[in-house]
Amino acid sequence: MISCYKIIQEMQAAVSQWRAEGLRTALVPTMGGLHEGHLALVKAAMKTHDKIVVSLYVNPTQFAAHEDLDKYPRQQETDLALLAQLGDKVCAFAPDSLYQEDHATFITPQGCALPLEGVHRPHFFQGVATVVMRLFQTVPAHSAYFGEKDFQQLAVIRQMVRDFNWPITIHGVPTMRAYDGLALSSRNAYLSAADRAIAPRLYQLMQSCAQDVASGIAPDAACAKAITTLQAEGFGAIDYLAFHDALSLQPTDKVTASTRLMAALWLGETRLIDNDSFENLCNAQ
Ligand code: PAF
Repeated sequence: MISCYKIIQEMQAAVSQWRAEGLRTALVPTMGGLHEGHLALVKAAMKTHDKIVVSLYVNPTQFAAHEDLDKYPRQQETDLALLAQLGDKVCAFAPDSLYQEDHATFITPQGCALPLEGVHRPHFFQGVATVVMRLFQTVPAHSAYFGEKDFQQLAVIRQMVRDFNWPITIHGVPTMRAYDGLALSSRNAYLSAADRAIAPRLYQLMQSCAQDVASGIAPDAACAKAITTLQAEGFGAIDYLAFHDALSLQPTDKVTASTRLMAALWLGETRLIDNDSFENLCNAQ
């Protein structure tokens, strides 16, 4: 049976006790709906930590009123069973809320939070930064693990930790993909069978786009070509598909190995996001 903490004070006390015993603790923040991508974060943390706390909390402040808070996958029993398979280093933290009823203080990230998701989901990083800070306070871990699937989120959290000199080490873990290249995401559960069949085209066309740039096509032209193809193949609105600097997250036409191709677009009712480095996209099979 996996331990699942529900009460903030009990979670805090447990982590403080582990620290007093000299145990290295890692936090893996999630909103549940666990898949192999989340489990890869836990497995990475297990290599160098004695205790792993996986938070399962669908954070309401990172959803706008018109977004999918109500239908976001909630499967706590399944999540706990998946975590239990990873052994007794792992426990869960599943509070009913991380906020007091009159919570009124928010962190509003700037800088790398402003482009991309900052434009298309302007409420998003305020909610993420605030809840991640609540998690860092509640689970005073040595390290925290985040997926590169949400590359901009990882950059925003790294910046927040630097800005507040917060005593935690942030680790990014490469995106896990399905056999056909689709980035794993809890929201993939929303895809109809027909949309699931089309979805891998996103990563394939990101690869083609990077390979076009490698062969001398201008980045803007290569992205425009990928966008036209995606729309012809059944994708809906494209929020963005463009090359961005890996640190500032600003758009760039100076593409180097580390430059990220960032994408967010709609397929039916599902918003997909993906990204990878120019180098990985050029070398992908
Ligand atoms: O990436 C997520 O699942 C969420 O944004 C996070 C970091 C757990 C905050 O709610």
